[in-house]
Amino acid sequence: MRKIKIFDTTLRDGEQSAGINLNVAEKVKIAKQLARLQVDIIEAGFAIASPGDFEAIQTIAREVPGVTVCSLARAMQADIDRAWEALKEAEDPLIHTFIATSEIHMQYKLNKEPDQVIAMAVAAVEYARGRCPKVEFSAEDATRSDWDFLCKIFSAVIKAGATALNVPDTVGYATPSEFGRLIAYLKKNVAGIDQVTLSVHCHNDLGLAVANSLAAVENGADQVECTINGLGERAGNAALEEVVMALRTRGENFQGVTGIETEQIYRSSQLVSALTGKPVQHNKAIVGANAFAHEAGIHQDGMLKNRMTYEIITPESIGLSQSQIVLGKHSGRHAVKNRVVELGYTLTEAEHERVYRQFIELADKKKEVTDTDLEALVGNEGQSGAKEYELDYVQVSTGNRTIPTATVRLNHKEKLHQEAACGDGPVDAAYKAIDRIINRPVVLKDYTIRAISSGEDALGEVSVKLADAESSFVGRGLSTDIIEASVLAYLNALNKLVQSS
Ligand code: KIV
Ligand code: ZN
Repeated sequence: MRKIKIFDTTLRDGEQSAGINLNVAEKVKIAKQLARLQVDIIEAGFAIASPGDFEAIQTIAREVPGVTVCSLARAMQADIDRAWEALKEAEDPLIHTFIATSEIHMQYKLNKEPDQVIAMAVAAVEYARGRCPKVEFSAEDATRSDWDFLCKIFSAVIKAGATALNVPDTVGYATPSEFGRLIAYLKKNVAGIDQVTLSVHCHNDLGLAVANSLAAVENGADQVECTINGLGERAGNAALEEVVMALRTRGENFQGVTGIETEQIYRSSQLVSALTGKPVQHNKAIVGANAFAHEAGIHQDGMLKNRMTYEIITPESIGLSQSQIVLGKHSGRHAVKNRVVELGYTLTEAEHERVYRQFIELADKKKEVTDTDLEALVGNEGQSGAKEYELDYVQVSTGNRTIPTATVRLNHKEKLHQEAACGDGPVDAAYKAIDRIINRPVVLKDYTIRAISSGEDALGEVSVKLADAESSFVGRGLSTDIIEASVLAYLNALNKLVQSS
């Protein structure tokens, strides 16, 4: 079996997608989880794109060992300098430089002749290799490029020192058999290709990103670029969890294995969803809420007789616990800490203490605290620590013949501020009351609510996106009361917004 490398680009292509805006601390948190997941490469950002991207790459390079850390750079010296500056303290840095190779991109976007594009690619790779021991070269829009031109440019950049070649299906145009043939063609016709890593990077515009990536592996690709939950530009990139579990479940087909710690998949998916504010669709393969739910009677009967009748992978293999252990208000600090550790989390003592405090509050309202609840609390750090505005009190009055009204009291710098407002509903009224206290123009861009566990006393999770004139922030709130969860999520986003300005 060949080793298939997993190049994760959640923090670059994923973060680049519409509506996602992670701050440095959130990116570092995701990078640390990606390291636990044992991805081979973390593409941490595009250093020249913004000071925030630069700082995130630099912090990840400094603080996340045991994994290759990469920055994207156009085929330009200024980009490469910036990428190297951000990466130079990484244990194993990689510069990923790219230029478009399709006729349409070269003519309309770059306004360059093919030979000029080759010269720029070669110069960029040579320049990057002069700084960084590992350099990946991507031929943007490869799948709409002339195959012989691709062979020419790839052969030239290998000569210039590229250590990896990447074949992006930038606009998600390829089909599996065609993409497989392209990979086989490159393997046969690019000079020196066996000395470098051959990578693929597929977008999902036709829903084929995972299928295309797997077809590439069948035809000799050594590396797949992908993102957690399939986030990415437009319809997204190939979903890491799907690529990895397909390779694990059908390894004999692909003659390849990854080094991914699959038991960390579910946790990674939940973390990325919570921090980006992008919920995972229920029927999403591998990590969706229904991925292991069997509804039909015939299926349930089969499952009871032998799980393999209807289950090709186990929930445990992606880190979904099936445990019956239930904690309650009599469970002590030690029991809670033990369960968190058993679930696979590595927390500092201060983080354990924060989870325990939130657990006690929850156990007071909820009879049984399940593993799912506990995992939600582990990810719920936004609701703790020093905050600019803190909820002291919220009261709403609503009904089908009442105008919804809310009174909210917030603690700001040790002073209480109270306001009341009417709204279209109780959440809207509470948000309007908060807006009156904060007195700054913000727009609610997104609001989602979901039940974390089942039952009448289920924990509800609200995720909101708030924007001001400059930027937008995601906030998350957890409570058994959906009004309280909504207010906490709003305040979580507001605090980030206030702290960033
Ligand atoms: O989709 C794409 O072409 C890219 C490249 C920069 C690799 O993201
Ligand atoms: Zn891409």
